[in-house]
Amino acid sequence: MNLEHLIETSKIRVEKLFDKYFDSHLCPAPLLQQAMSYAVLNGGKRIRPLLVYATGHSFGAKWDDLDGAACAIELIHSFSLIHDDLPAMDNSDLRRGKASCHKAFNEPLAILAGDSLQSLAFEVIVSHPGQLTADQRLQMIKTLSYAGGLYGMAGGQALDLAKTPSLLEMYHLKTGALLIASIKLGAIAANVPHDTLIILEKFAKNLGLAFQIQDDLLDTEESQTIGKPQGLDIINDKSTYPIMHGVLASQEKINELMTEAFELIKPLGNQTQLLQELTLQLLQRKK
Ligand code: IPE
Ligand code: IPE
Ligand code: MG
Ligand code: MG
Ligand code: MG
Repeated sequence: MNLEHLIETSKIRVEKLFDKYFDSHLCPAPLLQQAMSYAVLNGGKRIRPLLVYATGHSFGAKWDDLDGAACAIELIHSFSLIHDDLPAMDNSDLRRGKASCHKAFNEPLAILAGDSLQSLAFEVIVSHPGQLTADQRLQMIKTLSYAGGLYGMAGGQALDLAKTPSLLEMYHLKTGALLIASIKLGAIAANVPHDTLIILEKFAKNLGLAFQIQDDLLDTEESQTIGKPQGLDIINDKSTYPIMHGVLASQEKINELMTEAFELIKPLGNQTQLLQELTLQLLQRKK
């Protein structure tokens, strides 16, 4: 499969899955449901589902067995963005070029929308149709719950708020954890051997760090391009790699991390070509 086909097909599949999960019939709290779907169906790049599909395909999983995981990781990611934008956190009015969830609705609904998206993610992993075994689903739940919690995204967000001096540890947790989980979910669906999983995890760790440095570099670009307020990290007095070390050193760090990542993944041979091509494309993104 080539990269263009993967990108096109995975986007179509994931949007279709969301249509299914946000079909509003018989919903007891329609406003909450609207806040949830507003935050998910708003033009995200769907990078995490892409990583699930790319990894899964590279190691022989079927589309149908990757759908649930692709959908679930994007639900957790969307939840993390809703809470990240709240006044108590980054206080951002703009997300993906539109009013952020708490602006379009209100803070209580935004908090609840995040909570409910997180629950929905686990429901999808457990219940989405497909040939996955109960053990595979269990491993997926373990991966997702670890990545979203204290030792993952939430822990990293706490370090971000505490203005930790260990920038890379904070990046690894707040952003790396969900990207690592994306690759692991694809690998679990493909039943890869344990040593392959370990290599993929190391690769994904570097990708996660590079991805967040790139996000920080994009912070100073025009709001119209990035779909987020321009310069918010500076306004919020955040410690980011570009703010601490400069633009040039940040670009060099991204290159260093990716060179090392491609070196790490070499033992897996050309099975990882798709993943490598995708990674290079992700780090050239403009939003
Ligand atoms: C933004 O992630 C938040 C980070 C973890 C850096 P993305 O750049 O993947 O955002 P969307 O989903 O495309 O909006
Ligand atoms: C990543 O960091 C946020 C999450 C882990 C949700 P940022 O705060 O930099 O992400 P953006 O720039 O708001 O998308
Ligand atoms: Mg943040
Ligand atoms: Mg933010
Ligand atoms: Mg950012």
